[in-house]
Amino acid sequence: MDISLFAPRHMDIGGGAASRIAAMLHRLGVSRPLIVTDPVMVSLGLIDRIRAPLDQAGIPHAIFSDTVPEPVDTVIEAGVRFAADLDIDCIIAFGGGSPIDTAKAINILRAAGQGARMRDFKVPHTADHAALPLIAIPTTAGTGSEATRFTVITDTGTDEKMLIAGLGALPVAAIVDFELSMSVPARTTADTGIDAFTHALEALVSRRANPISDGYARAALRLIGPNLRTVYREPDNRAARAAMMLGATLAGLAFSNASVALVHGMSRPIGAHFHVPHGLSNAMLLPAVTRYSLNAALPRYAEAARLAGFAPDTDADQLAGARLLEELETLNHDLAVPTPSAFGIARSDWDRTQPTMATQALASGSPANNPLIPDETQIMKIYAEIY
Ligand SMILES: [Fe+2]
Repeated sequence: MDISLFAPRHMDIGGGAASRIAAMLHRLGVSRPLIVTDPVMVSLGLIDRIRAPLDQAGIPHAIFSDTVPEPVDTVIEAGVRFAADLDIDCIIAFGGGSPIDTAKAINILRAAGQGARMRDFKVPHTADHAALPLIAIPTTAGTGSEATRFTVITDTGTDEKMLIAGLGALPVAAIVDFELSMSVPARTTADTGIDAFTHALEALVSRRANPISDGYARAALRLIGPNLRTVYREPDNRAARAAMMLGATLAGLAFSNASVALVHGMSRPIGAHFHVPHGLSNAMLLPAVTRYSLNAALPRYAEAARLAGFAPDTDADQLAGARLLEELETLNHDLAVPTPSAFGIARSDWDRTQPTMATQALASGSPANNPLIPDETQIMKIYAEIY
């Protein structure tokens, strides 16, 4: 089996690790960072967790904080213009998945030079080149973006969430500090946690899974499964926050090397057309897509259920698979995940958009990694089912 492995060169993981940002830059031989973050990180003061140690080390830094949730191409272009004349030698991406994905995209577009557009890089094209070393510091657990070779950017011209993949999107280094996630609101904690769980599950059942991605996916499921509800109910539980943060990074490493599958393929169009947060649209789909796919990879789904603590080790595959389906439904209930209808999407809009969403889901390539590969009609059937 040929394996192509992608991972950051260095990761500093642990409570308080963000305070070691200056040491990280020193190790990488860089000293003039642009910080890409979002306005909330600035207004809440969380950004000071890295600004203070940078100031202390006498490292000047510029900040671009005009990022938006579920990043769009126009904001990326604005970021490239903002950074054009700055004397910088690296980028620090600080925040949830959106600022990190934004920073990656700015870095790719900056390298491409004048006239390049974000859509030039969407899959099946590759984005192997970036301008500067990028250090990612996630504040949610999480998209795993700090550990992946992917960024997802919406094309404002077509309302398409474009998957952009390549070495150019892979951070050179990451700092994974669970203390940054302690004050994340419950809704975001749930959404990003389900996203991380979905990454681990989809990586384990992916047709592109390999022994290395399996190792990451299994370790991630063991950490995320038992802690997902705990961080939602007990936001101050440090052990659970630490487990989720590490689990999310491991899940990122898993899917960066095995790819995601049908849940993500169908989830991106929901996000693009109806502005549903990424983790939430995953959660809306997860039970139905798992039911559709289960028997095509039953031993893997059953293993995932056991690793996550949803089924005892003694359960045979059939029973463990059934428990997984049950648990995914219960999880959505416990984490207050709405259906598209309860989210406020009108039936007529949902029905009208389904064919476009199905086309875009297939075009992303992710459904081709699913244990059972659907056609457009089957994808539309699942969209109809979850409404
Ligand atoms: Fe995701």
